[in-house]
Amino acid sequence: MQITSFKQYEEDYKKSVENPEQFWGEVAQNFQWRKPWFKVLSWNFNEPDIKWFEGAKLNITENCLDRHLAANGDKPAIIWEPNNPEEESVIYTYKMLHERVCRFANVLKRNGAKKGDRICIYMPMVPELAIAVLACARIGAVHSVIFGGFSAKSIADRINDSQCKVVITADGAYRGNKQIPLKDVIDDALIGCPTVEKCIVLTHVRTPVSMLKGRDVWWEDEVKHVNDICEAEEMDAEDILFILYTSGSTGKPKGVVHTCGGYMVYAGYTFANVFNYQPGEVYFCTADIGWITGHSYIVYGPLSQGATSVLFEGIPTYPSPSRFWDIVEKYKVNTLYTAPTAIRSLMSYGDDPLEGKDLSSIRVLGSVGEPINEEAWHWFDEKIGHGKAPIVDTWWQTETGGIMISPIATVTPTKPSFATLPLPGIQPILVDENGNEIEGNGVMGNLCIKFPWPGMLRTTYGDHERCKQTYFSTYENLYFTGDGCLRDEDGYYRITGRVDDVLNVSGHRIGTAEVENAINMHAGVVESAVVGYPHDVKGQGIYAFVIYPDMHGEAELSKKDILQTVTRVIGAIAKPDKILFVSGLPKTRSGKIMRRILRKIAEGDTGNLGDTSTLLDPGVVEEIIEAAKKL
Ligand code: WT7
Repeated sequence: MQITSFKQYEEDYKKSVENPEQFWGEVAQNFQWRKPWFKVLSWNFNEPDIKWFEGAKLNITENCLDRHLAANGDKPAIIWEPNNPEEESVIYTYKMLHERVCRFANVLKRNGAKKGDRICIYMPMVPELAIAVLACARIGAVHSVIFGGFSAKSIADRINDSQCKVVITADGAYRGNKQIPLKDVIDDALIGCPTVEKCIVLTHVRTPVSMLKGRDVWWEDEVKHVNDICEAEEMDAEDILFILYTSGSTGKPKGVVHTCGGYMVYAGYTFANVFNYQPGEVYFCTADIGWITGHSYIVYGPLSQGATSVLFEGIPTYPSPSRFWDIVEKYKVNTLYTAPTAIRSLMSYGDDPLEGKDLSSIRVLGSVGEPINEEAWHWFDEKIGHGKAPIVDTWWQTETGGIMISPIATVTPTKPSFATLPLPGIQPILVDENGNEIEGNGVMGNLCIKFPWPGMLRTTYGDHERCKQTYFSTYENLYFTGDGCLRDEDGYYRITGRVDDVLNVSGHRIGTAEVENAINMHAGVVESAVVGYPHDVKGQGIYAFVIYPDMHGEAELSKKDILQTVTRVIGAIAKPDKILFVSGLPKTRSGKIMRRILRKIAEGDTGNLGDTSTLLDPGVVEEIIEAAKKL
């Protein structure tokens, strides 16, 4: 299954396009199935209706755990590095992880969870988070992991959207020198969540928490009441494995649905290939399991391949900006997979944090989440890889389940800031606004995918029409990514960023409409418009233009009130970096906000605002420009 030469890549790619069913059928043979499929693929992008490995039965945890026990039971599966480096790290071998997952799966059953039930997971980056995820998969329950930075309201919306029956959380989380009261947040959320029957609480930071009789139970107590034998539930290849909520151009996040068979094959295949993982190596992905990167490339991908995956609780700058390099040295990390925002942030501390750190174990570097600028690419290459470790700039999305366009480490020649070439099985095309294919090289367009791949989303939970509208209706018979893209003279792809109203702030995906809705919930705000602007570390910053007519007191205080409101409604990750109070917004006569103009103002590029003649009140633009200069 592993590609070892560029020639083989070309051959595999060709085969995957000419005979996709044969190609993926062969890849899938590298996994363990209870029953084989009768058809590799049936599809229709109009509905959309996509089925991979139809008729096949499996359980993904047998692929991630059981099948490694005989030969690799004592091999480390997860190495956990705590937030505080003074604290003891924890190593779970495959045998231990299997035992813990089975035991916790029995806890879930004991608390009424069964196949098909939705379970919300809101936890810190501790091994128990991976255990909770795998335990859900073990019994066929559908996990919906919510990132620890989301507010009670965001959690409640997500729990209610998928009618979760059980919540798994912890008393609190550490994040650098901060403590986050996870259970308090959950308590606030659950006031509005009638479907939740049980809440399982892990003790982690040992902060006092309220435990509601009949609903809340302690993880530590529960595991004492069960044994560690739990046969895996037999799942259909197209049964739901998990839901993961993600933002789009509307105000309401949607639950992206991934299914068992195709997702497993795709996460495993892409992990083995993109990172060129070799047996015995230590692999470190710095993402949070609350995002798709953590699902596919901390948990399912690496474990399905019997790899050793480092799970880090903390942040890159605590207790110092040497932390990543300390971890690399401590565990002799061979592959480091991180985000451009982290690279830029660490780069800003200069070379001192690298002083005396032994990074010689590093063989492969990876980047994900947003376009990587050339400066960051070169710094990563030179200072971290010492010019010897290929950088895989991996382009993909929550919806794609796994990496789509990326170099294959040691195989594909890299090029700074380019995701390079599509992986086997992936057929990208560029289209213009009218959906016409842009052929040839040295061209730009909107990035679409014209053929299904096993890891793709199947629906958006509870609202299939929304899936169809969002991804399959913009262009006929194509999956639309929402990204703009350049294909250079060599046929290499460079993703240039979103072409819809979605922001990418420090690799976190946030819809402008969502932030606007949150700002508008502040009692004094009449209207707002949110756009992104280039930010040195975050990639994009959030710039909010806000109409707040009867402000009392200082404007600075009102800004803080707005930030507080956004934190309550969405979470701290969506707080605007800049707020500009304005008396009006540039609108067309039909009332549409002209974001193009606001984007230019936010970028500080007011030389050429383009055609403003269709504006209802062109004067408002001058006013905003003047106010923006003083911000
Ligand atoms: C969006 C998806 C994929 C896991 C993390 C983010 C942007 C992602 C790259 C890259 C340029 C990238 C795209 C994409 N993006 N990777 N290597 N180069 N842009 O997942 O939250 O679903 O966001 O992130 O704009 O559409 P996500």
